[in-house]
Amino acid sequence: MKIYVLCTGFSARSIDHLTLQNIQNIVYSEFNSAFPNQPVPEIEVCDANAPKYDMVIVLEKYPTEGVNNPIQRGQEMAKGIARRLSSVLPKEICYSGRVACKQQKDVPGVGTDIGSKAPAPESDNLEDEYKRLAAQFQAEPPRYTFSRLVISEEVKKSLLSAIAILENRQVLFEDWGLGSIMSPSVLLNLYGSSGTGKTMAAEAIADRLKKKIIRASYADIESKYHGEGPKRLKGIFRAAKEQDAVLFIDEADSMLSARLTDTSESSSQTINSMRSQLLMSLEEHDGIVIFATNLIENYDKAFLTRLVCVEMERPDFQARKEIWKRHLYPVGEGAKLNIPLSEDVDLDKLAEYDFCGRDIRNAVKQGCINAVIKNPGTVTQENLLEACATTQAELDRLHNISNPDVLRGRKTTDEDKAKIVAKIADKFSAAAKEMVDEDP
Ligand SMILES: Nc1ncnc2c1ncn2[C@@H]1O[C@H](COP(=O)(O)OP(=O)(O)OP(=O)(O)O)[C@@H](O)[C@H]1O
Ligand SMILES: [Mg+2]
Repeated sequence: MKIYVLCTGFSARSIDHLTLQNIQNIVYSEFNSAFPNQPVPEIEVCDANAPKYDMVIVLEKYPTEGVNNPIQRGQEMAKGIARRLSSVLPKEICYSGRVACKQQKDVPGVGTDIGSKAPAPESDNLEDEYKRLAAQFQAEPPRYTFSRLVISEEVKKSLLSAIAILENRQVLFEDWGLGSIMSPSVLLNLYGSSGTGKTMAAEAIADRLKKKIIRASYADIESKYHGEGPKRLKGIFRAAKEQDAVLFIDEADSMLSARLTDTSESSSQTINSMRSQLLMSLEEHDGIVIFATNLIENYDKAFLTRLVCVEMERPDFQARKEIWKRHLYPVGEGAKLNIPLSEDVDLDKLAEYDFCGRDIRNAVKQGCINAVIKNPGTVTQENLLEACATTQAELDRLHNISNPDVLRGRKTTDEDKAKIVAKIADKFSAAAKEMVDEDP
């Protein structure tokens, strides 16, 4: 699908590249919301002459598959674009919010003589800018291997089958020629509650693929400057490509959620353009990108259809026991862990605490601290159990802080409710008595 963006009320030549890119992002995100689940379109910004409008969006043809009323959707798309354009166009451009959407067959000449192409976007300055941004994201060796990670066989199978395409790249893409019909990209989303091993899994995957890893969180990419976030995002994908690294984007929740419809806030517009840029970057990227998110709420279908999602589950009793083991005893060759454990350490008892991996790591640390203070030289079961109790108390405290009932104060008990009802009843009967007394 090709979309021509005809600048009619102003000249595409008079606007800078960043604005052009913002226009493309807006067009893309509005197209995506009006016509979900369509392939990523190619967008060309041109100059044209049509005095009634500021901009005419010309779709090669209306998508029809799974789309009801495409003409109306096209109009909604035009409205959405019109609403958002004012925030990206320079002030000196006289813009009056008139945007139309048409099909190519209804606009004779589009793609031939009507549109003279807008200036080439990649100016030298911009190239330098992307280089500068890409240089900020350096790939590093992964910190964990699969041998440290405790996951169910099922989760392990899902992770390994997701990356099998890269491990067998030579056979699949060179020998069997799959490269002629698709790109060897792997887009993985690890989701699950905090401390369940999402970051560890991303690192273990990089280790398995013998690649370095570029770690970035949404907070590293977003920027308070308008238009800077999408550029940084493009920069980071470029860095991953140049360094042939696994790209790991943590805290990706807000980026992967559905597009915001209230775009009156400039922060909403920024997130929307980040999402559009992300979709475009994912489409172009032919390496591996791993996202990690705690909450997948209101997921954007455009991402859902592109990502392989794997849930990192909270560990059950057996998994907890294994995680305790791997945090207390040396695992694998060359392991440096050397905790002087006493013989009474009982993993079954420790695993009874309903902890996630991170809680276990914290408890091990606390247990060792307890030991060096109280009984240096050995870490006993008592030291570890005491640490478990401390960790549990901390978890309860955090749970209470985030529990609105507790925040408001004590929960209303049944006894409290009975007292309130009795009080109201008392008031009513007193009032009724007064009325009866006053009646002649
Ligand atoms: N499945 C696991 N197997 C072994 N250790 C684990 C596991 N999950 C967590 N841990 C321990 O907890 C630590 C923190 O885990 P990690 O950072 O991978 O969690 P996360 O899911 O990325 O959490 P967050 O959502 O807060 O970023 C790890 O370094 C490890 O010590
Ligand atoms: Mg993490």
